[in-house]
Amino acid sequence: MTNWVPICAVADIPVLGSRRVARQQGAAVALFRAADDHVFALLDRCPHKGGPLSQGIVFGHSVACPLHNWTIGLADGCARAPDEGCTTPFAVRVEEGQVLLDAQELNTLAIEPLAAAGQAAA
Ligand code: FES
Repeated sequence: MTNWVPICAVADIPVLGSRRVARQQGAAVALFRAADDHVFALLDRCPHKGGPLSQGIVFGHSVACPLHNWTIGLADGCARAPDEGCTTPFAVRVEEGQVLLDAQELNTLAIEPLAAAGQAAA
């Protein structure tokens, strides 16, 4: 059974903006709010060279990475062609205006040390 944990209100995420959710292990999770109020959650690391997607520009259901402008799909975390690669998406639930994330995913997905990920991208 999924253990959904409340993170913040949808209203706490700027429209076409983001909010970072720090974790005990691994990179932060970035919550994104599209213009249609859909909320998405991705690991806050671009699949290209680890750029902070939470600082990117949201348009439609995508975000443009602030470092080299790759377009990353908010639903699947994958780069749009011709670029390749995916970051980790997290399940999101919205209930009564509150954003909830899966506690197990927060504790287990993409928790490898940042240094190792940085070396891989170098
Ligand atoms: S790190 Fe995101 S496009 Fe290069």
